[in-house]
Amino acid sequence: MQSIKSLSTTVIVLLCCLTGLLAQPYRPSAAINARVETLLSKMTLEEKIGQLTLYTTDWGSTGPTIREGYKDDIRKGACGNLFNSHSTAFVRELQKVAVEETRLKIPLLFGFDVIHGYKTIFPIPLGEAASWDLEAIEKSARVASTEASAAGLNWTFAPMVDISRDPRWGRVMEGAGEDPYLGSRIAEARVKGIQGKKLGDPDAMLACVKHFAGYGAPMGGRDYNTVDMSEKYFREFYLPPYQAAINAGAATVMTSFNDYDGIPASGSKFLLDQILRKEWGFEGFVVTDYTSINEMVMHGVVANDKEAGELALNAGVDMDMQGGIYQAYLKKSLQEGKVTQAQIDEAVRRVLRLKFELGLFEDPYKFCNAEREKNTLLAPAHRAAAREVARKSIVLLKNDQEVLPLKPSQKIALIGPLADNKTELIGNWNGAGNFNDCVSLKEGLSGANMQYAKGCELDGADRSGFQEALRIAGQSDIIVVAVGEKANISGEATSKTQINLPGVQEELVLELCKTGKPVVVVLMNGRPVVIPGIAEKANAILETWWLGTEAGNAIADVLWGKYNPSGKLPMSFPRSEGQIPVFYNEKSTGRPFDPNSKWTSKYIDESNSPQWPFGYGLSYTSFAYTTPKASVETATTRGIPSGKQVKVWVSVTVSNTGKVAGEEVVQLYIRDLVGSTTRPVKALKGFRKIMLQPGESREVRFDLTADDLSFYRSDNTFGMEPGEFDIMVGGSSNDVKSVRIRVN
Ligand code: GLC
Repeated sequence: MQSIKSLSTTVIVLLCCLTGLLAQPYRPSAAINARVETLLSKMTLEEKIGQLTLYTTDWGSTGPTIREGYKDDIRKGACGNLFNSHSTAFVRELQKVAVEETRLKIPLLFGFDVIHGYKTIFPIPLGEAASWDLEAIEKSARVASTEASAAGLNWTFAPMVDISRDPRWGRVMEGAGEDPYLGSRIAEARVKGIQGKKLGDPDAMLACVKHFAGYGAPMGGRDYNTVDMSEKYFREFYLPPYQAAINAGAATVMTSFNDYDGIPASGSKFLLDQILRKEWGFEGFVVTDYTSINEMVMHGVVANDKEAGELALNAGVDMDMQGGIYQAYLKKSLQEGKVTQAQIDEAVRRVLRLKFELGLFEDPYKFCNAEREKNTLLAPAHRAAAREVARKSIVLLKNDQEVLPLKPSQKIALIGPLADNKTELIGNWNGAGNFNDCVSLKEGLSGANMQYAKGCELDGADRSGFQEALRIAGQSDIIVVAVGEKANISGEATSKTQINLPGVQEELVLELCKTGKPVVVVLMNGRPVVIPGIAEKANAILETWWLGTEAGNAIADVLWGKYNPSGKLPMSFPRSEGQIPVFYNEKSTGRPFDPNSKWTSKYIDESNSPQWPFGYGLSYTSFAYTTPKASVETATTRGIPSGKQVKVWVSVTVSNTGKVAGEEVVQLYIRDLVGSTTRPVKALKGFRKIMLQPGESREVRFDLTADDLSFYRSDNTFGMEPGEFDIMVGGSSNDVKSVRIRVN
């Protein structure tokens, strides 16, 4: 059939540039400021310090409880903020104490880690990042905020935007992977989803950008460990997503546990004043991470808790999470002149502004509507959204002989410790999620001509289940085996030196591969894993992360071909731990790898390349790219200030050369061939996710800005340098076509 040549030229203006222009950091209005001043003038010092204090409630068998003494603290005005307290009934009970039993009736903030859903659980953030679908990611955050705010909450400790190239660090599951450009766009989407149309709406919560800053680069990949790198490198590769979140209007920021350049983040004027306030113009408030003021004593930069509090307030920390240090020592520090009244007042202003913004003074119980709570949590529309986002998050890593999608006539052997499992599907940091609400993979495949065997456990050396697994495999046409990680081995304080599959899971898969039947591996994990045997022997591999409440349905949709997988990796998968950190935007070095020379940058026992690179993901169809064209061979930027377009655009025509419709993430990378500081061999500067019907072609255009071509130069200024640039476009960081331009 004559292929459809609807070459509809789609000129795609760089929306993120426009969005960037439209988005603004949070700015309080004059009216809010006036109300704050009036209230501030009435407050005692104790009441002011209470607004700078945040305590957790306890976790009882049926959920959060209030620790004895906190209600008295609230009554005295000594605690103005709580976290880990949710449900309308519990929040109403505690808010009542604040607004009816205190002198000034200042409402409480209620915070919680709503990281990838509140009750309806969405894919873990690293999984959502694999969708490269900013609308879907914003939708996910919007649903999470809608549910959480219906359950009494008005503040979430999200988005986590820490860039990381080190999968030994278990918290990669909470972020958006290794790239600052993708991480920045996703940070914006999440802030917009969390904060909704405007603060003060009943379904809007305060976002909290964390962990500021550089927490994702701990030495050795060991959680909480030291972070140290040059300021140029820090600014180019690690800071952008925090700034993007601030520019998207994020109301609060959380400091990180780590030190940077020898100073713990909670005591760093460079981070909290120079960068955050002076350079980025942030006007929200800064909260610490859990007792991270106290921990500055262990860091060894202060001798005791009191000095830690003084260092923190002088650096720019507004609120003390769980440390109790501001409550215990600030009054004395003030009396001794170690801190000033002005500093305390400014911190209190920042907190009160956002309580006014939320509308809490007009209606302290606005987030406590039990009817709304009942009708909102796990609403069918939310489950449908979770299934949609989950499908988009799945990455097809391998599909030899096109064994996928499954065919209805096939007899399936469903095997593996995660095939009939719900408990792990909601992953770590799962909010108020209940795994019993999940759809397992076995349930998602219900109705298929299928036998099931567990095969082995998620860890341990018991191989007794192999025999039954091999028996049903022998009776099947195709094997689907679900393996991966327990939800509690990726996340906080879960750094690992080995990131293979625990136990005998990979061995089970390899035994199944020996049967000669086609083997489809479904991975469920929170971090990139090292699986060389599976990578070599399996016929097909789906990376499904922890997909949340609708996991089983989403995976089944992809297995049956109801949804053509479109995910792309947001983080490189190493071949072995010895390569870590392995990432796409590396520098050339003076001796770039050359297979024909001994004296080049390489390992003698492993390849330099990852098992699967950043931006990689297959489809059930195929795509072809023309060589990109640039609007000019030589562009001039004289007089065009940074951030404005350099009047250069690059276009490429993408065609669906397969038999089924599919989405492709068209990625734009640049390389600055000569710079006054060493430049990465490629850097992501744009992407578009487009749907193409079989045979359809479409032109995709990227407008380049001066910022896209700029970097921190040898004199530490940010800007562009004239010279040649390679502009690359493709469907993966390791599969691009290039055009060279010159910029004068
Ligand atoms: C934890 C985490 C942080 C979280 C906070 C409150 O230690 O580091 O991400 O938001 O405490 O739960």
